[in-house]
Parts: sequence; C-alpha cells; structure tokens
Amino acid sequence: MTDRYQLSQTWRWNLENAPQLPKEKVVAENVPGNWSWCGLSVDSPLGIAAGPLLNSRWLLYYADLGYDILVYKTVRSSARECYPLPNLVPVEGSQLLVADTTVRAISQMTGSWAVSFGMPSVDPEQWRRDIEFARANLPSGKRLVVSVVGSQMPGEADGHRMLDQLADDFATCARWAVESGADGVEANFSCPNVSTADGQLYHQPQLSGFVAERIRAAIGDSALVLKIGFMEDEHQADDLLRYTSPFINGLAMTNTVSARVSTGDRLLFDGQLRGICGDAIRKAGLQQVAMFRRRMDALAMPLDLIGIGGISSGAHVRQYLDAGATSVAMASSAMTDPQAGVRLRKELKAFRHHSSTNPTWRNMSGRGPALGLSGSPSITIRACSVSDQQRCVSGALVCCGWTAEHFSGCGLRFFGRTIDERKNSLAWSKWRTEFRCTNGDLSAFADDKQR
Ligand SMILES: Cc1cc2nc3c(=O)[nH]c(=O)nc-3n(C[C@H](O)[C@H](O)[C@H](O)COP(=O)(O)O)c2cc1C
Repeated sequence: MTDRYQLSQTWRWNLENAPQLPKEKVVAENVPGNWSWCGLSVDSPLGIAAGPLLNSRWLLYYADLGYDILVYKTVRSSARECYPLPNLVPVEGSQLLVADTTVRAISQMTGSWAVSFGMPSVDPEQWRRDIEFARANLPSGKRLVVSVVGSQMPGEADGHRMLDQLADDFATCARWAVESGADGVEANFSCPNVSTADGQLYHQPQLSGFVAERIRAAIGDSALVLKIGFMEDEHQADDLLRYTSPFINGLAMTNTVSARVSTGDRLLFDGQLRGICGDAIRKAGLQQVAMFRRRMDALAMPLDLIGIGGISSGAHVRQYLDAGATSVAMASSAMTDPQAGVRLRKELKAFRHHSSTNPTWRNMSGRGPALGLSGSPSITIRACSVSDQQRCVSGALVCCGWTAEHFSGCGLRFFGRTIDERKNSLAWSKWRTEFRCTNGDLSAFADDKQR
C-alpha cells in the first residue's frame, strides 16, 4: 500500500490506489490567527491545490495530514482519459520568471517537475457521488472545493456558439459540484498542457467575465474562485479583474509557468509546452500575488487571493501571506512529502511565537461574525505591518458593505481616535481606507470578540 502518488504508475492506477487513512490520528498543530477561504472560516490558511486529490479517498487522506482547504481535482462534464506516461518529469530548479522557455529534464525530483496530464476526468456520475462521500466524511473546520473545467465541443466552427457551449459546460460542472456538497468552486481558466480555449481563458478578460457570469448564475451564492496562470502585465491584470470581479470571490494563482522540456538532445512531449510546478515557480507566484494584491487594492476589489507555487515550508507560506494572499495551496511538495502539512503547521506556530518580540505580519479576513460583528457584508482586514512593542498596526481596511455604525462602540481606534469619533471624517463611502490602530493589535481584538 502506498502513502503517496507513484510517478511510474498511470493516473488511473493512482486513482484506484489511494493511500489508506493513518491508523492513528495525526497531531496537527493549531495555526494561530483567524483564517478564511472566500469568507468561510477555516482552521488554517493551508490548502491542497487542484491535482493531487484525485478522489475522495485522496482528499480525506490529505485532510488528515494538516490541510484545511481541500481542492478536489479538476473534473469535466464527461469522462476524459489522461495523457500517456510520463505525466511528471523532474526538471532543474532555477527560478522561472518568463513563460515558454526551455528547461532541462533531470532523473530525480529535486523540487520541480513538468506536469502532463491534460485534465483527465472520471464520468460525472462517478465524481458527483464521490464528492457527496467526501462531503459526508470531511471533518468540520475544513472546506471542500471542487475544481471544474468546461470542455469544448469538437468540430464547432461558429465562434459565438463555441463560447456559449463552453460557458454552459463550465456552469453545468459547477452546479453539479455545489449540488454534491462542495463549499465552493474553483473554475480552472488556465492549463498550459491543453491548447484549446478551455486551457487559456484567463488570457481573454472579456471571455473570462462571460464564463464567470454564467457560472455565477448556476451556483447562486456559493463561493467561486478562478484559477489563473502566469501573468506579469498590470494592464492585463486590471482587465481581468474588471471583467470578472463582479462574479467571483477570489483568484487562485499561479497555476504553472509553461516551458518546453529538453533532455539535452531532444525535446519531450513532441516539443509542446508543459506546465512547470514546484520550487522553480515560487518567485513567479509571489510576484504575481503581490502584483494582483496591489491592483486589487488600487481598484478597491476586496477579493480573496489564493497563493500557489513552490510552497514547501512555513517561511514560504509567510512570504505569500506577506505578499497579499489570504490563503495558500500546495501541490508538488505535498505529493512528494505527505507529512509536509504537519511540518508546516509546526513552523507557522513557531513564527507566531517569535512575533511577540519582533515586528511581524497579520492577515485576517472573513465575514462579520468572525470578527464579532453581526450581519452579512464581508470585511477584510489586511495589516501590512505590526509592531508589538509600539502596540500599533497600520495597513488597509477593506470594507464591503459596512458603514461606521457597524463598528460603533467596538473600541477599535483609527489614527488614535475611535470609530465613533472619526466617523464623520473617514470616507466610509469608499470601500477601502487606510487605518492605524493604537488600541492593541487587531488579531487580539478579533479573539476577544469571539469569546
Ligand atoms: C500532479 C499535478 C496535477 C495537477 N492537476 C491540476 C488540475 O487538474 N487542475 C489544476 O487547476 N491544476 C492542476 N495542477 C496544478 C496545481 O494545482 C498547482 O497550480 C501547481 O502544481 C503549482 O503548485 P506547486 O508548485 O505547489 O506544485 C496540477 C499539479 C500537479 C503537480
């Protein structure tokens, strides 16, 4: 019996040979802080990205190993077989900051690999039943997210009809996922390993908005995240945000950085691009998260950002949170080291402990009740810098639908004065305002209010 994904075996073999749940309960440390995924509370910011959780057995296995946001592998509206082996080719690990270059294949996995699956899927009847099983068996405090992708009908020549059909197909999968018990949907708008529109949507902001709106209509209030690929250009990011933000709760990035894979004397995969994952894409992922957070703040779009790419330590998690992520997800390192989540939780606890004497970060987001406030509008507080010695916090308060009255009497001080004192001078009509809190740090405030 295996405890991890077997590279030498097919995707189907791995699907049918999931690890067994540990016999003894794994001790997973608490990760201090208030964490959420798209406004839903979770026990930690740690997730498994779409891919490694091939079915409910894999999902429940990783849920036991310290992960709280579990993304069920991308599914389709009809069964699709996987690309032939090799599906995972280890590559050299230098940081990839440009797409479509060539990377060198190596024999042993040292942290990075090229991924070549082609988004296979079992039949919808099978995955829908399986998600129901996962839902029924997932412990509380954890979130079940299903990754979906639309499939293009072969042979459709009319562009409008083709897009309409693709949007409908995305929406159907998303609706089925929610009906089966998913807390939310991650729509995969990026897969460098398929050349059709379903793999490249995020490069087309208007089309992305069109499909996102169709999915939103199909899933009502359930959370919706778009998974996007590598993007460096701020104007492209702004366009994508403008077209999609009315319909979504968050963005997950960076799917992969695409590259050709060379053995030295020949190109693998017939010279086609494949997605590089793991260590080699961490810098690209961090830069992209920071860029999107900057643009979201500038455009007053308080969306969740799920940081993905090359995470294998608590320090990496912190880097992503510092860059503006609300939560993170891992694929490669969790596959090669199933105990990584348990280790990361220990490391994150140590960071928190350390922070009592040093300036550090806080990152909180959630719906009102998580902060002890009643009502349904969402609130995100992102503290950019915290000094425990000076007992002050500065950063950005992003209010969506809240007014000064909601904070009345809460004791929180902005720039040295209470909300009540300041409510006439703060621009509450805006969604976002800078704050400085001199009344203790915000995480303490949140904890107090929860008790
Ligand atoms: C084995 C494997 C399968 C994957 N399958 C999918 C998938 O089906 N859908 C998807 O959106 N991303 C998929 N990905 C991409 C991951 O979700 C993630 O974006 C990428 O691996 C970067 O994270 P990492 O550096 O932690 O591996 C897959 C990655 C791996 C390693």
